[in-house]
Amino acid sequence: MNIKTALNWASSELSNIHDTAQLDAEILLSKSLNKNRSYLYTWPEKHLNTTQLKQFQEFIRKRKSGIPIAYLLGQKEFWSLNFIVTADTLIPRPETEHLVEQALELIPKQTSWKVVDLGTGSGAIALAIASERCQCQISACDKSSAALDIALKNAHNNKLNNISFIQSDWFEALVNQQFNIIISNPPYVAAHDPLLTQGDVRFEPVSALQSGTTGLDDIKKIIKQATNFLLNDGWLLLEHGFEQHQAVQELFKHYQYQNITTKNDLSGQARITFAQIASTN
Ligand SMILES: C[S@@+](CC[C@H](N)C(=O)[O-])C[C@H]1O[C@@H](n2cnc3c(N)ncnc32)[C@H](O)[C@@H]1O
Repeated sequence: MNIKTALNWASSELSNIHDTAQLDAEILLSKSLNKNRSYLYTWPEKHLNTTQLKQFQEFIRKRKSGIPIAYLLGQKEFWSLNFIVTADTLIPRPETEHLVEQALELIPKQTSWKVVDLGTGSGAIALAIASERCQCQISACDKSSAALDIALKNAHNNKLNNISFIQSDWFEALVNQQFNIIISNPPYVAAHDPLLTQGDVRFEPVSALQSGTTGLDDIKKIIKQATNFLLNDGWLLLEHGFEQHQAVQELFKHYQYQNITTKNDLSGQARITFAQIASTN
């Protein structure tokens, strides 16, 4: 089978299942051939060898069953860094880059602020910040040891060494520590949200997504407990669902945070809320 025929076959196999059938086929064929996508259009008549064809057919079979592209490739780009992703880690989302941007607006350059990323998963947020603020001391925490193993590998592969990895149920293992900034993209999907049974999300760890009947259980815990772990004037930044900003703002108010701000993502959805702890001086 040549490249052109392979692409046509694969995109028609995937067309009833995925909106991105053609793109998915191109990405998976590029991976099977170990070439970039432009190669596919430069050499449409080139034949796949037996190993390449088998690999490609296997990719298409798995993609048809719904497995996300990032898990098939074993990697995902975030903040221009390359991350290993496995079924133990959430696939980092472009929306989360807004959380990183916002954190970077708050963290002055050339400071050695103490920063913690709660629920680090693949390490996406912690590594992105570490790459931009090399003097900061960054802690990356997760309850899942399997996710932390991947985050550690990602830090090593991206040559970032100002991050400590800590297994912790939110703040449990951080006793006596205080931070200038706490960042988290916690689980925030309601238990019965149909989203959990659709698309790529079905293959991601439930523990990374679901948080009680309203989706707010973990956010509540973090907002409450963070009051003991923030230095004076420290910031807590949270990603949340697009319909949760009012509830999140109320929680911040309840715990007497100040300067409570919600920001929209590029599609106009309110997805980030952050606030500053009241100073005790
Ligand atoms: C939505 S994912 C975010 C992953 C990553 N920060 C990102 O943005 O791609 C939530 C993460 O929180 C972790 N998590 C869930 N419950 C936790 C808990 N009680 N303590 C610490 N981490 C937890 C999950 O293992 C998962 O890695």
